[in-house]
Amino acid sequence: TVVPVILSGGSGTRLWPMSRASFPKQLWPLLSEYSLLQETVARARQVSLASPIIVCNEEHRFLIAEQLREAGVEHARILLEPIGRNSAPAIAAAALLVAETDPGAVLWMMAADAAMTKSGALPAAMDLAVAGAERGMVVTFGMHPTRPETGYGYIETGAPVPGVPGLSQVKAFREKPGVKQAEEFIDSGDYLWNSGMFVFRADTLIREMEQHAPKVMEGVRASYAARASDLDFERLGADEFKRVPDISIDYAIAEKSAHVAVVPADLGWSDVGSWDALWDISGKDSHGNVSIGDVLIEDSANCYVRSDKLLTAVAGVEDAIVVVTEDAVLVTHRDKAQDVKKVVDRLKREK
Ligand code: GDD
Ligand code: MG
Repeated sequence: TVVPVILSGGSGTRLWPMSRASFPKQLWPLLSEYSLLQETVARARQVSLASPIIVCNEEHRFLIAEQLREAGVEHARILLEPIGRNSAPAIAAAALLVAETDPGAVLWMMAADAAMTKSGALPAAMDLAVAGAERGMVVTFGMHPTRPETGYGYIETGAPVPGVPGLSQVKAFREKPGVKQAEEFIDSGDYLWNSGMFVFRADTLIREMEQHAPKVMEGVRASYAARASDLDFERLGADEFKRVPDISIDYAIAEKSAHVAVVPADLGWSDVGSWDALWDISGKDSHGNVSIGDVLIEDSANCYVRSDKLLTAVAGVEDAIVVVTEDAVLVTHRDKAQDVKKVVDRLKREK
């Protein structure tokens, strides 16, 4: 069996004003009536009936426990971090938890905030990933890149893994390249995007972490040893965890390890990172408009308009993003959707 480990630590600043530190994007129903976290849990269940592990900030514990109940998950293990230290410490803690009872168990690390339109292809891709994991590899899923995106990891595929047709060794893993380099990667045709999902045995991850990020592993071990059980939660030792280096699994392991493999898979995956990305994957009317909630659109094209309560009308504009919440309104251009982060940075400084 595969144990799903869902990382739910990001705050999704580019989806302001819906996504907030206190209620981040993965907890909002952005694509259906279910939140991204709930959709992730449902996807995990398509592949594995094992109880999932959720790693999240302690601030979100009740929201997350409630959403899991609502999604019909009865036995989740929830690991709480006192502060975010990025994905490497989060997954290392989950690996220690599992390794206590079953060091050879295969973990499937997934982000709580991605979308997948072709999850029917998951079980077959997972079989390959598990075969790789059982051979001691760290397995990623590679998606066909469509633009020189600088926010993703790029995977250069190498020779097939002996004995596992469909699984390739990874020649090089390059996390978040500059735009020039991303363009070269795309032009070469040799690179895939990293989907942010990883499959490995618990003991493999611990071994790789010890080798390539020993300070992370040491700090997480100390924090894990000092943990406290609290209702349904496992609370990591706070003082110890705060001293753990802040680093993602991509930089800590994927770029460094010699044992990384990739399953190229067409999962209809996308990172729900910005309002423009959401526009891209949402259902549209014949003029390319997405309207959600109490919204009226007239003589406009390719807009994303969302309002939960206030009647919101948009007329005579193109490529606009309009998001209305109870206490804030965002109006921007689809091409500038990445800049919402700047707004949030200013709000943090000025308000
Ligand atoms: N529990 C916990 N604690 N989770 C965290 C933390 C943390 O401190 N930091 C990040 N996460 C979770 C996020 O919630 C998300 O689910 C996942 O880890 C990935 O983190 P991101 O911060 O969203 O990473 P990224 O988007 O910059 O890059 C990763 O994902 C890309 C695809 O979306 C990398 O894996 C890239 O290589 C990949 O292409
Ligand atoms: Mg992300």
